[in-house]
Amino acid sequence: QTGEEERMTDEYQELIQTLPKESNWDGGYLYQYQGCWCPSLSFQGLISFQRHFQAHDTDVILITPPKSGTTWLKALAFAIANRMHYPLSQSPLLTSNPHHLVPFLEFNIYHENPFPNLENIHSPRIFSTHTPYALLPSSIKDSKCKIVYLCRNPLDRLVSYWHFIGKLRPETVEAISLDQLVDMFCRGLTAYGPFWDHVLGYWKASQEMPNKVLFLQYEDMKVEIVSPLKTLADFMGCPFSLDEEKQGMVEEIASFCSFNNLKELEVNKTGKFHTGKQNNVFFRKGEVGDWANYLTPGMVERMEKLMEEKLEGSTSKR
Ligand code: A3P
Repeated sequence: QTGEEERMTDEYQELIQTLPKESNWDGGYLYQYQGCWCPSLSFQGLISFQRHFQAHDTDVILITPPKSGTTWLKALAFAIANRMHYPLSQSPLLTSNPHHLVPFLEFNIYHENPFPNLENIHSPRIFSTHTPYALLPSSIKDSKCKIVYLCRNPLDRLVSYWHFIGKLRPETVEAISLDQLVDMFCRGLTAYGPFWDHVLGYWKASQEMPNKVLFLQYEDMKVEIVSPLKTLADFMGCPFSLDEEKQGMVEEIASFCSFNNLKELEVNKTGKFHTGKQNNVFFRKGEVGDWANYLTPGMVERMEKLMEEKLEGSTSKR
């Protein structure tokens, strides 16, 4: 057993005995739970969240496959929702990492406490998760709360993930090669994966319920951020007024939350999580197409062929 399994309560320890499992890059496991490969680290938190979270109609839930730009989306959503409370010159984003301001439900909120008190947070409450659509708590699906989904080209996401896990890998665990990571990806073995099920779940939901699920793509936001930012604000129920637009508020938020600005803030250069993880692991290059510097033609062909097959018919193919 790894440390994370040992920390689970008896109920969860019994449950994991019944599930298919595969080794993960951190020395722990991925457990196949309701069709999703869930890492040991967030297993208990994800199920507590699924069982106990009560959504409010005004909630905004930010959902991503890991390494798709979650940090960016958190900063943008927080800046949009809180612009009445703080001018950007006094924004909490100047002194806190976006992951502190918009916590993950399965890691930060439900990780150790199945009944956190979330009732006193002012609305709109903004939370985030990597949970696939099929596993979301029914209160998220049944209430009027909003879901914002952000996805990213799987090749860039994989390269980003490889760098990220390289920084977080425990010293006692052997490093995983890119080849191994591509192989795991193609077998569906990624955190909260298979990746294609994750994307398709939200893609379908966004097609069926466009007022409930907003589907964004990292690459589109890198090309042009102003219109996705306005769409996001409208969707969250905090649209920019004409005056704000005239005053350049949209552009200000966009440049405040840009990769270069956030990366250079002292808190993101030197700050740490209570777990010891450095805030700077969330900021690397922030570019589109960096995969070309790392993946071999064989890896690219394998992944692209699979994506073509799995994402056929959805424009989330990119
Ligand atoms: P790279 O490793 O390709 O640079 P997540 O936030 O989901 O963990 O994803 C991290 C990826 O988003 C990293 O990608 C990181 O550099 C990039 N990123 C972080 N902040 C960003 C921002 N403000 N704008 C664009 N990309 C950002």
